[in-house]
Amino acid sequence: MDITQLLDIAFQTRHQAHAPYSGFAVGAALLTKSGKIFSGCNVENVSLGLTICAERSAVAAAVANGEKDFVAIAVVAESAEPAVPCGACRQVLAEFNPELKVIASTSSGKIQELVLSDLLPRTRQGILEAFRDV
Ligand code: THU
Repeated sequence: MDITQLLDIAFQTRHQAHAPYSGFAVGAALLTKSGKIFSGCNVENVSLGLTICAERSAVAAAVANGEKDFVAIAVVAESAEPAVPCGACRQVLAEFNPELKVIASTSSGKIQELVLSDLLPRTRQGILEAFRDV
């Protein structure tokens, strides 16, 4: 996997962010098993609560194009420390791959690599067990 390319696409997509309320632009790029890349940015709303994060917008773009096998996501924000996905995004990403590689980076290139299951352990396991008995 070319991490540099994934980070670069996240970096570029960040410029499309609609973030007039927070001023915090975020870009994400999701790599599929087949080698395709789908990107997303945060899309804020005046209600604030209806804001979509960059990570979830990348997931929606990929799924709308028939891709669900994700191996890695790069997230780029202009922050002092790399911004890792919020709780809601962790849950949405875990739907597709609890072992997803998460590469978070500041726009100046400070990088942190994580695995989604370390950020959100055992999530799908519990929910799927509940559904099995229904
Ligand atoms: N945001 C993301 O898009 N991804 C993250 O990982 C952190 C937060 C967005 C949501 C909101 O538009 C802004 O950043 C401030 O929280």
